[in-house]
Amino acid sequence: MVELLPSILSADFAHLADQIAAAERGGATIIHVDVMDGHFVPNMTIGPPVVASLRKATHLPLDCHLMIDNPNEFIAAFADAGANWLSVHYEACPHLHRSLQMILHHGMRPGVVLNPATRVDLIVDILPMVHHVLVMSVNPGFGGQEFIPFALHKIRHLAEIRREMGLAFRIEVDGGVAHDTVAAIVQAGAELLVAGNAVFGAGEPERDARALLAAARDADSLQTVSKFAARKSKIH
Ligand code: DX5
Ligand code: ZN
Repeated sequence: MVELLPSILSADFAHLADQIAAAERGGATIIHVDVMDGHFVPNMTIGPPVVASLRKATHLPLDCHLMIDNPNEFIAAFADAGANWLSVHYEACPHLHRSLQMILHHGMRPGVVLNPATRVDLIVDILPMVHHVLVMSVNPGFGGQEFIPFALHKIRHLAEIRREMGLAFRIEVDGGVAHDTVAAIVQAGAELLVAGNAVFGAGEPERDARALLAAARDADSLQTVSKFAARKSKIH
């Protein structure tokens, strides 16, 4: 099922609770929290104290995307703060298997993130451990960047591997998800859609979340119809 995850990076940080409530009224079901340290990516954002406040402000699951060096050192702090999903970058984890085990051990749903230049094949061995794979469709660090089209191949490749391996991890995409890109993204096989600028950029999160989700669901149902038609034409 397609779900919308507003990225609060583009929200008004002085009114986060209101902005999240508005996005939820527009149909958002999970909140995406971008954590940046100024080392792994050239920007700084928020950490566990803000996550702890968000935890009190919404009942929606908090999907925390760690764009930090040495993420293992902060896994416990994010669990204590109330993060539900926690994803770490392949590129930041020399001992990725251990990082994912730690996330599981702390009762959160583990995810692995791939930068645009990182190949999907590199994570095949750990796929049985993850709840979600986050495909970056921009270079991480900033909201409002342009979607990198070859991310679509990576989404398709992951969906294929998932089928072949009989797994159930969810495919998430982050960066440049907007009205003009969302149909292709959903048709490629992504189901968790992170969107910052497209939800909060114009200051109308409820309206814009609703419109983006509607476009995503249209693309999803078209895809289901065409898969059904393809199957039917094989039968007859
Ligand atoms: C980028 C972050 C994204 C960002 C997406 O480093 O991981 O979550 O907020 O922003 P948009 O949707 O504006 O591209
Ligand atoms: Zn993100």
